[in-house]
Amino acid sequence: MNNHIDEETINKIRNNVDIVDVISSYIQLTGAGKNYFGVCPFHDDHKPSMSVSKEKQIYKCFSCGAGGNVFTFVQDYENISFIEAVKLLADKAGIPLAINSKITKKEKYQDYLDMYELANKLYMNNLNTSLGKEAREYLKNRDISPKTIKDFEFGLSLDNKDDLVKLLNKKGFSTDKIEQYGLCSQNTYGSVDLFRQRIIVPLYDLKGNVIGFSGRIYKDNNENKYLNTRQTVLFKKGELLYNYHRAKDIARKKNQIIIVEGYMDVVRLYESDIKNVVATMGTAVTKEQISLIKKMAKEIVLCFDGDGAGEKATLVATDELLKVGIEPKIIRLEDNLDPDEYIRKNGRQKYLQKLEHPLNVMEFKLNYFKKDKNLSSTLDIAKYVNEVIEELNKMDDPILKEITIQKVSEEVGLEKEVIKDQLIALEQNKTINEVVKKEEKKQNKYEKAEQYLLYHMVNNNKVMKQYLKNTIYLPTLKYRELARACKQYFEEYGSINIADLMSYLRDQDTLKTLLEINSLNLKEEYTKEEIDDYFKIIQDYNYKEEIKRLKEELNKTTDLDKKISISNQILQINKKSKGDE
Ligand code: UTP
Ligand code: MN
Repeated sequence: MNNHIDEETINKIRNNVDIVDVISSYIQLTGAGKNYFGVCPFHDDHKPSMSVSKEKQIYKCFSCGAGGNVFTFVQDYENISFIEAVKLLADKAGIPLAINSKITKKEKYQDYLDMYELANKLYMNNLNTSLGKEAREYLKNRDISPKTIKDFEFGLSLDNKDDLVKLLNKKGFSTDKIEQYGLCSQNTYGSVDLFRQRIIVPLYDLKGNVIGFSGRIYKDNNENKYLNTRQTVLFKKGELLYNYHRAKDIARKKNQIIIVEGYMDVVRLYESDIKNVVATMGTAVTKEQISLIKKMAKEIVLCFDGDGAGEKATLVATDELLKVGIEPKIIRLEDNLDPDEYIRKNGRQKYLQKLEHPLNVMEFKLNYFKKDKNLSSTLDIAKYVNEVIEELNKMDDPILKEITIQKVSEEVGLEKEVIKDQLIALEQNKTINEVVKKEEKKQNKYEKAEQYLLYHMVNNNKVMKQYLKNTIYLPTLKYRELARACKQYFEEYGSINIADLMSYLRDQDTLKTLLEINSLNLKEEYTKEEIDDYFKIIQDYNYKEEIKRLKEELNKTTDLDKKISISNQILQINKKSKGDE
């Protein structure tokens, strides 16, 4: 197990804090005695779907499936590592941590954070000096207020070769380190600051530490508009969203997060008192960014630039979001404007109106398909309708389907039936897929038995013991592994405790499986018959698999003796499985 703090200490800390106290320091809990309830902070909700068990010292959300023990709650809420969560709670419980605990990423790179903080201060200060006049004028002309400049900690790098290196050297940082952390480069003539004569936009990690910079030109020259810190140990552009740390709580409260492309779009919205906004920083949305977005709010509004590139990017992002079950709302801006330009030209009110009436995915896609097509040309109509049908085929909502068909049929003057027939033809393929799915469903009978059995195993010593006696082989790999881990845990500790098991498994896939099992909406109580039944169903599966394997072998062999022997084996297994019934 790759933990740096030993298991015993972790359990001790867990035993010394009460999950109800800890969680209620973050969210409001109601209830008394054994069970408490609150609004789950990990998804968008108004109902108290999160339950916290004082007895078991775990929580789970019946709506989104989040769950775990006190460490996982703090870890997810604060967006910190497991070890950091343990430390935080150790502090709370007043338990000193063993000295051998390895240093965390943050401590390891404290010098990195210090360096960036110093650099940030230098840049911010530059902007306020007489040498910053031109840059200040530039910002002023863009209608960026001094308050926003301060809030976003904008700065300025001057037109000198190595201001920053000199300062950092003086503060004890070696030039090699400065280069390693991405703030200068060295050549035969010495060292050169990365940023020169640029307005500096600091970039933060999820917690709000400065870990990178982006520098914007502010007078006409031929250089790239923005220059960014290259990837470093801590700065990975694709894992961040600009303005995340300032926006996340507001977004959670509003249940809405607006996604834009650029820094300046964020700044403009912020100036307009719309603060639930983050920027992708101009690149295609990554998996990491999507998982951040998902955590912030239920309503996701994509508001990329109004030009063709922005439209393309919207399409890509929409499909990525749909893949993870999020249906974003979409805002498109006229005249190729980006959100910053749009608000400056049309005012905050117009933008708010757009925000009130965003497009849904289908509306956006219909517009997209129609673009560059001439709907009086039969060829273009055919193309358009085919694209629409493809899209309809992906959709589940029958009402939305009907409405869309109606709309498109009127639009292009084509009988509804024609579109429907075509769709049905496509859907036949889908039906085949569904047959496959049904087959899979059959398997679910076993899966269900495995899940239910595991649920009672992790919650009850008796069931755990029965499992140890039966040594049954669970068909599904992840469940088998969880069962194995439970066994190992039980043998080590002599009893099972789900909250401790959660820290025991920690950052493994097995933990995910445990959380999945824990989020099953089951009653605590069980009957012996029920449990026996699960064992039997799983045993039955094992028999069936064995028979299947033997039959294959039977077909392959030509040796008569072998054939007889295999047949006998099949007979035996059949008998056994009948006997079980
Ligand atoms: P934009 O060109 O839309 O930037 O690029 P912007 O924020 O609207 O900036 P202004 O209004 O021209 O000042 C979107 C984002 O793409 C990244 C930046 O993160 C930018 O905010 N980008 C753009 C770069 O990293 N480098 C570039 O050269 C350009
Ligand atoms: Mn812009």
